Amino acid sequence: MKALVYHGPGQKAWEEVPNPTIQAPTDVIIQVDTTTICGSDLHILKGDVPAVTPGRILGHEAVGTITEVGDAVTTLAVGDRVIVSCIKSCGKCSFCKKGIYSHCLGDEGASGMGWVFGHLIDGTQAEYVRVPYAENSVYKVPAGVPDEHAVMLSDILPTGFEIGVLYGQVKPGDVVAVIGAGPVGSAAIMTAKLQGAARVIAIDLDDNRRAQAHKIGATHDVNPAAPDWKEQVLALTDGLGVDVAIEAVGIPATFDTCVQIVRPGGNIANVGVHGAPVELPIQNLWIHNINISMGLVNTNTLAMLLNLVTEKKLPVDQLVTHRFTLDQMMDAYDTFSRAAETKAIKVAITRD
Ligand SMILES: NC(=O)c1ccc[n+]([C@@H]2O[C@H](COP(=O)([O-])OP(=O)(O)OC[C@H]3O[C@@H](n4cnc5c(N)ncnc54)[C@H](O)[C@@H]3O)[C@@H](O)[C@H]2O)c1
Ligand SMILES: [Zn+2]
Ligand SMILES: [Zn+2]
Repeated sequence: MKALVYHGPGQKAWEEVPNPTIQAPTDVIIQVDTTTICGSDLHILKGDVPAVTPGRILGHEAVGTITEVGDAVTTLAVGDRVIVSCIKSCGKCSFCKKGIYSHCLGDEGASGMGWVFGHLIDGTQAEYVRVPYAENSVYKVPAGVPDEHAVMLSDILPTGFEIGVLYGQVKPGDVVAVIGAGPVGSAAIMTAKLQGAARVIAIDLDDNRRAQAHKIGATHDVNPAAPDWKEQVLALTDGLGVDVAIEAVGIPATFDTCVQIVRPGGNIANVGVHGAPVELPIQNLWIHNINISMGLVNTNTLAMLLNLVTEKKLPVDQLVTHRFTLDQMMDAYDTFSRAAETKAIKVAITRD
């Protein structure tokens, strides 16, 4: 089969590799019908994730069709159309039993690390992928839900909702600021509405992404490059700051943005993956009763979010901006890696 193989920082190729085979009785093999590229794949290609070694097939998002099932798999069958969660889940360990799949103790990839696809085991940017612990790690797609919508459930929708909205404790009537309106920020914007946010402010340097944010539920937007950006945000609250600031970029500057605009008693929910330390002005924050949360997505809300997507309650049709076939994988990477120029949000890469 063909797959997108990582060959060290800055190097990748769409090349011939052996087909995956069943290795444990709880595995399935999936024919990838639709996959996509995540900002994390770009981080890997920059060399920011040293655990990814040359030879690894990248990708952790996919919708596909089961072609083979292991002997212990009883609830899935050949021909089933499924979403692959970006997080493995053995379903048996103490973390899985608490819904903290991100730290699944199953030994695929590494015990204690849920994110394994395209990281510690071969991923989904391929014609076929082996999925361990399949009964707990894939979700059947209801008829009528297109692949392009379903694939948003592998990673970005659960990430924005769980680590942004739920960890941020968004409540009815809240004013929520989302810093970074990329795919993950977009997922936080659209799911903040589920918890009853009264206002959702998209804060992004990119004019196109701020404009796009309104199509998926942002009520206001602010350009953080404007000299009076902070006054603009405070003016959208009662002057005291936002109830919840969701960081969806992953750099010190945007964590600081959250610190500057959160109100006393408010929440900062950090979703961004940081590669460098962030200064925490705890001397100012403690007396303002600020709650700070962070985490790796669990995808324990995937089934619930899939119900909402099935009922067309989330504007997921606004996320795919560019479409490719699997053999155009290198072009898809080129377009996605120049998102500011190409105005890409999510790319859909399909079999046909
Ligand atoms: N916690 C998790 O489990 C998890 C899962 C998936 C992704 N992530 C992380 O979430 C973050 C967002 O992912 P994405 O795919 O949406 O990324 P992205 O790079 O596509 O989007 C980031 C956005 O931030 C904007 N931005 C950059 N600098 C800014 C600044 N100074 N002020 C305001 N906006 C700024 C960019 O214009 C862009 O629109 C990344 O760090 C990613 O690694 C976390
Ligand atoms: Zn991802
Ligand atoms: Zn587990």
